[in-house]
Formats: sequence, structure tokens, C-alpha cells
Amino acid sequence: MRTRLDTLVTTALQQGSAVPAFTCYDFTTALAVVGAAEDAGRGVILLVAPKTAATPNGLRLIAALRGLADAATVPVAVQLDHASDLGVMADAVAAGADSVLADGSSLPYEDNIALVVAARALLGSDVVIEAELGGLAGDEDRAFGADSTGTDGAGLTDSAQVEDFVSRTSAQLLAVAVGNVHGKYKGEPQLRWDVLQDIAVRTRIPLVLHGASGIPADELVKAAAMNVGKVNFNTELRTGVLSTLQERLPAHRADGENLQGLLGHWNTSAKAFAGSALGMLTR
Ligand code: 13P
Repeated sequence: MRTRLDTLVTTALQQGSAVPAFTCYDFTTALAVVGAAEDAGRGVILLVAPKTAATPNGLRLIAALRGLADAATVPVAVQLDHASDLGVMADAVAAGADSVLADGSSLPYEDNIALVVAARALLGSDVVIEAELGGLAGDEDRAFGADSTGTDGAGLTDSAQVEDFVSRTSAQLLAVAVGNVHGKYKGEPQLRWDVLQDIAVRTRIPLVLHGASGIPADELVKAAAMNVGKVNFNTELRTGVLSTLQERLPAHRADGENLQGLLGHWNTSAKAFAGSALGMLTR
């Protein structure tokens, strides 16, 4: 069922839970994620990568995800992830996204604020806007090892900027950089819970943890207590699906080029991952 992303996340936080968000490059994965959420009786967020949304087929995928979200028996939000192009944001919202991450985190501070303000002016008050302060290392779509100690060009969120940033952007959620990276972690993740705690006391809006793949479950479960209401996963979901397909492909080729059977294994893998993340983040 259609639900505002900020409502979904705030309601979960009130129960001590966080909502997982999963990048969907395709409809098979989205079906699995929504199926897992329905089985768990919990809300979920479908993320669309900006490179996906920048293509005509990607916009058709968003429209399909919108239909899937509206027909689901649990709350499902569709969000355009990490967008810095206003045209892509407008197209994605027109196609059916109900939320956007207006990501100016790689820009100078004032330009980051200006991007979020421009996104709000363009998209209107019904679209939920997440903003990002501090830069994450790593690639959003391809998993290479990234260092979580800040040596890969990343910068931790400066907690002293949080109140000013939130009040001037009117962002409804805030993505933070606390040693989290996109893709695979080089070595052990070095999450700065002290920085997260310092951010959490400076704003009432829900925080968002990107780059959750590779962070141990016993660390992630602490997030909601620090006002992290949304946790983004991509790499681990892809890794599981690709391993499953690699393993199952030869038998399904031998079985009369059985693509339907192979898609069933894709669904099972993505659904199991989404189900375990939902369970981990639910209190
Ligand atoms: P991972 O690929 O590291 O899980 O990050 C996903 C993400 O943050 C999507 O916005």
C-alpha cells in the first residue's frame, strides 16, 4: 500500500525498529523484496539507482515498482536514490517515485544545501526528501573494496553542521557518513558510533545509514537506538543473487534453457536476504 517514506520510517522508530531499503535494478528483485515484507508483515523501501532512473527503461521500472508498491499488503515506498540531477529527480517522481535522496554530499556545503532547496522547489511538498551530509567512499553500483577510515576521499558527517543543514534544507531524513561505505569494506568496517550519537542528539529527523552490506548484524541492530530509521542495502543482495545464478545456471541450461526455473532461484535468494534484514531491524 502506498505510504509516505517519512511516515513509514517514523512509525518504525517509535517501535524501536528501522526499515530496510533495497536497491532494485529489476522487477524480479523487487517482487522478492515485497514478498519478504508481506511475509514479515513489515513495511519496506524499494530504491532505484540514479543510473537506472536516467534511462527510459528505468522510468518504466519505476512505474512498475509504483504498481507493485500500491498493490502490496504492507506499506511500501519507492525512492530515487542518490540523485544529483534535478531533471532525473523530476522524471522519477513523474514516473511514480514518492521520495528522493537529493544528494549533494560531494559538493561544497553551501552547494549541497542549494541542491536540496532546489529539489524541494521543483518537486513540491508531497515528495519526501532525504539529504546527505558527509561523503561515503565506494561505488553505489559496483562493489570494490573501500576503506571506512576516511582515506578513500570520504568525509565523516560534521555533527556541528547538522542543525544548520537540516533547518536550511528542510530535509525529512538525513543520510550520514560515519565510516560506512558503498560496496565492500576493505578490512573490518570501522563505524564511528560516537559520531552517530553526536549527530542523533542534534536533530529530530530520522537518520539513514547507507552502505549496510558488510556491517555485522550485531552492529546494525544498534542503529535504531540512535535514531537511524532507514538502512540501505545493495551489494549483499546482489552478491547473493549472482552467486545463486552462477551456481544454478548450468543445470537450468541443461534443463531446456529453463529461465523460469532460474528466476525462481533468483526470487528465493533475494527474498531470503530481504527477510533476514527485515527480521534483524525489527524490534
Ligand atoms: P551497499 O551496496 O554497501 O549495501 O550500500 C547500499 C546503499 O547505501 C544504497 O544507497
